[in-house]
Amino acid sequence: MAGKLMHAVQYSSYGGGAAGLKHVEVPVPCAKGDEILLKLEATSLNPVDWKMQKGMLRPFLPRRFPYIPGTDVAGEVVEVGPGVTNFKTGDKVVAILSHLKSTYNDDIKDYGAGTWHMLSTLLHTYEILAYGNLSGGGLAEFAVAKKSLSVARPPEVSAAEGAGLPVAGLTAHQALTQPAGVKLDGSGNQKNILITAASGGVGHYAVQLAKLGNTHVTATCGARNIEFVRNLGADEVLDYKTPDGAALKSPSGKKYDAVIHCATGIPWSTFEPNLSENGKVIDITPDASSFATFVAKKLTFSKKQLVPLLMIPKGENLNYLVNLVREGKLKTVVDSKHALSKVEDAWAKIIDGHATGKIFVGP
Ligand SMILES: NC(=O)c1ccc[n+]([C@@H]2O[C@H](COP(=O)([O-])OP(=O)(O)OC[C@H]3O[C@@H](n4cnc5c(N)ncnc54)[C@H](OP(=O)(O)O)[C@@H]3O)[C@@H](O)[C@H]2O)c1
Repeated sequence: MAGKLMHAVQYSSYGGGAAGLKHVEVPVPCAKGDEILLKLEATSLNPVDWKMQKGMLRPFLPRRFPYIPGTDVAGEVVEVGPGVTNFKTGDKVVAILSHLKSTYNDDIKDYGAGTWHMLSTLLHTYEILAYGNLSGGGLAEFAVAKKSLSVARPPEVSAAEGAGLPVAGLTAHQALTQPAGVKLDGSGNQKNILITAASGGVGHYAVQLAKLGNTHVTATCGARNIEFVRNLGADEVLDYKTPDGAALKSPSGKKYDAVIHCATGIPWSTFEPNLSENGKVIDITPDASSFATFVAKKLTFSKKQLVPLLMIPKGENLNYLVNLVREGKLKTVVDSKHALSKVEDAWAKIIDGHATGKIFVGP
């Protein structure tokens, strides 16, 4: 592939939204060391893609301009680096394009109370931002992925079904299995779980994964998606624009052991009365006020906790999710598919924040 050019979409400065994306011809990247080169079949977008462009993760991400966004991909292996033995040309894979080298991966298994957890979470946050978790490259014809963050895609799983999984699926999986402590084999005590924004990318996976465990799931979404979220398996669904929905009140009077909080802008005071004695809010879009609540709850030894969560990509978990899709236990819902040549439509849609399931870009 050396010397060949490919079509890619990139931006060279912060801001600009869809109009800030530029279609360019750039050299096809090379697979070095432990990397594989993929001919891309599908890329799914996440809110972090537009947030990076807007400058919300500056000065850490993107690491440099011009930047080709897109981290969640499915494709065919066309070249392998010298350090790769587990993939060969022609293999179909799902990958997350990230250059994270986390040294804390295993420590975050313990989300128990305590100072170590607080320090470890802050270190994670720093590390992820400082090292630049997401390397991008998915809005192009070819991209390089690390072998450790790439997994085989069996024929039963379509490219889009696979490409939807990395950021959204791994976040839902991590939130449920680590801080919320849900066992996806159905063992363990029953837990009452609230999932906010259950119609979105993370939320729609979270509802389905939670129902693999021993859980009662309450979910919030807009009126148009109530049936959709019920069909994903939620036991009760609240329209977030009604008074009870805005108050997050379970229709059956349940108190939540864990909230997988995929929406934004809901204060602690709204969650607090709805939590069980040891209830946790797992905030996947933590801002300054969530970090303040997190620290305040730790310092006052509160039984009710707020846990800021940033997804740590792990190949073994991605493989687990791909296999659930293969077995028909998890589905990726397609909001819309867009050609790379019309990527601006997909970009405007992800910025809009009203996707039902996942938004895809493909060749
Ligand atoms: N911590 C991490 O590592 C991590 C990883 C992934 C995502 N995130 C963050 O998590 C958030 C969710 O991501 P996503 O990919 O799921 O987003 P998404 O797919 O864009 O979510 C869109 C959905 O959210 C619904 N929604 C919006 N506000 C809501 C509210 N107040 N109550 C109920 N539903 C609401 C929308 O419904 P309507 O159209 O009806 O309004 C829409 O269906 C984003 O802020 C993202 O940046 C963090």
